[in-house]
Amino acid sequence: MDNESPAKAILVVTVTALLCSILVSSAAVFLQPLQKAYADIERIRYLVQLSGLVDSDADLSEFAIVSAYQDVTPRLIDLETGSFDQNLDPQSFEDPDTADELQQLVSIPAELDSARLELRPRWISVYQVETDSALPRLIFPIYGQGMWSTIYGYLALEGDLNTIADVVFYEHEETAGIGDQIQRPAWLVGWRGKKLYDEQGQLQFDIGSIDVDSPEYDYRVDGIAGATVTVDGVADLVRYWFGPHGYAPFISRFDAGQER
Ligand SMILES: Cc1cc2nc3c(=O)[nH]c(=O)nc-3n(C[C@H](O)[C@H](O)[C@H](O)COP(=O)(O)O)c2cc1C
Repeated sequence: MDNESPAKAILVVTVTALLCSILVSSAAVFLQPLQKAYADIERIRYLVQLSGLVDSDADLSEFAIVSAYQDVTPRLIDLETGSFDQNLDPQSFEDPDTADELQQLVSIPAELDSARLELRPRWISVYQVETDSALPRLIFPIYGQGMWSTIYGYLALEGDLNTIADVVFYEHEETAGIGDQIQRPAWLVGWRGKKLYDEQGQLQFDIGSIDVDSPEYDYRVDGIAGATVTVDGVADLVRYWFGPHGYAPFISRFDAGQER
C-alpha cells in the first residue's frame, strides 16, 4: 500500500487506537486490586501490621503496605455453616453498594450477646496470610460495645487457630486517656501468645488480674486500672466472636481438618 494513501493512514490510526485501548483496558483490569488496596489504605494498614509479614512496629509507606497486602487474602466465612463460602466473592461484601444487597443480618440470642450487638452479619471476611506455612495465620474482625461506643478491631490467630498472634483496636469513642488505653502498644503486646481455648476446646479467654502461677494465666490478658468498663467490653466482645454464635463453629471444623 502506498505510504501516501489515505486508506493506509486510516488503517494505521485504527490499529494504533485499538492497541492502545486494549493496553489501557488490560491495565485497568490488572491494576484494579492495587487501586482498591490504595483506597482502603487505612484499614489494610492494620491487617498488614497483624499479618506477621512486616515488623508490626515499623512506620510503613503506603507502597510497602499495599505490597505486603498482596499476600493477605480475604476469605468469606459463612457463620451459619461455620465454613468458608466458596461461591460468593469476598470483594462484593467489602463494597458497600453490593454488600447491602447480599448480606443477611442475623439476630443474636440475648444470652449469647455479650458484645451487645443484637445483630451480626451472616457472612464475614477473615484474612488469610499467604506464607509457605501449611497452617497460615488468620485475621478475624471483632467488634462490640465498650463503655461509650462500639469498639472495632482485628485479632490475628496463629495457624493453630487458638494462639493469639496479635490484636489491634482501630476505631472507638472511649474516653481519651482512660478507655483509649486499649490502643496502647505496651498493653496490646500482652495479648501475644495467649490462648483462647483450653485442651477441651472450652473458651477460656478473659481479661483481668493475672497470677503467673494460676492455670488461667495462659488465657488471661492483664487489665487496665481505671478503665475496667471498656476492658470488660473488650473481653466480652472477644468472647462473643470466638464463642458458639461467632467463629467457634468454624474453628471446630478447622480443628477437625474440614476447613483449609
Ligand atoms: C468522664 C468519665 C469518663 C470515663 N471514661 C471511661 C472510659 O472510657 N472507659 C472506662 O473503662 N472507664 C471510664 N471511666 C471510669 C469508669 O466510670 C470506671 O470508674 C472505671 O472503668 C472503673 O475502672 P477500675 O475498676 O479499674 O477503677 C470514666 C469516668 C468518667 C468520670
